[in-house]
Amino acid sequence: MSNPAYLIAPSILSANFARLGEEVDNVIKAGADIVHFDVMDNHYVPNLTIGPLVCEALRKHGVTAPIDVHLMVKPVDRIIPDFAKAGATYITFHPEASEHIDRTIGLIREAGCKPGLVFNPATPLDVLEWTLEKLDMVLLMSVNPGFGGQKFIPHVLEKARKVRQMIDARGLDIRIEIDGGVGPANIREVAQAGVDTFVAGSAVFGAGKETDPHRYDSVIAAMRAELAKA
Ligand code: DX5
Ligand code: ZN
Repeated sequence: MSNPAYLIAPSILSANFARLGEEVDNVIKAGADIVHFDVMDNHYVPNLTIGPLVCEALRKHGVTAPIDVHLMVKPVDRIIPDFAKAGATYITFHPEASEHIDRTIGLIREAGCKPGLVFNPATPLDVLEWTLEKLDMVLLMSVNPGFGGQKFIPHVLEKARKVRQMIDARGLDIRIEIDGGVGPANIREVAQAGVDTFVAGSAVFGAGKETDPHRYDSVIAAMRAELAKA
């Protein structure tokens, strides 16, 4: 594997939105690496979440960790500069949500962010043939996008192995991220398939009691312990 540093990216979709800044502080304190920020538009996916104002609010609150903006919106391009200004680090989008994939990747790069493409469980990887060199991340959905707390779809592991082969064959330094149904019980086999960046929403924010400020430490430690065995 060319990129052995494993990163854990809690999805704030499952956080308490009424106390979002505090929630993000707590997962980072508990050992998370990246903030996964799910943007849903009630058009590309059947749910509605958060936008650039919330990203900016987290930066103003003092969040310095990378923010991994996962755009589940259609169209994509208009909102990119807003997220760049709001402090996004990665911006990933679904190729079927953009009319001009290469242009959208370029817009993200020009705005100073790291571009990534997201593939739904049934979406083929074809577009990677002509885009891979321009990406910093390939995000593989292991559930259908729109909601947290769904069941991991196992055929995505095969896809991960394929992407890992493509990246390694071309000698590129690109993260492979997985999103959906990931937790301590399956993170090790996901890593063994070549994934290095792990989104976990309900597994992290659903852990323990909200009154316990250390509730995220043990679940993140459990995931790290599994990764150490991968
Ligand atoms: C689903 C989102 C995910 C979601 C994952 O559309 O992209 O990031 O929060 O949630 P869990 O980890 O609960 O499956
Ligand atoms: Zn996501």
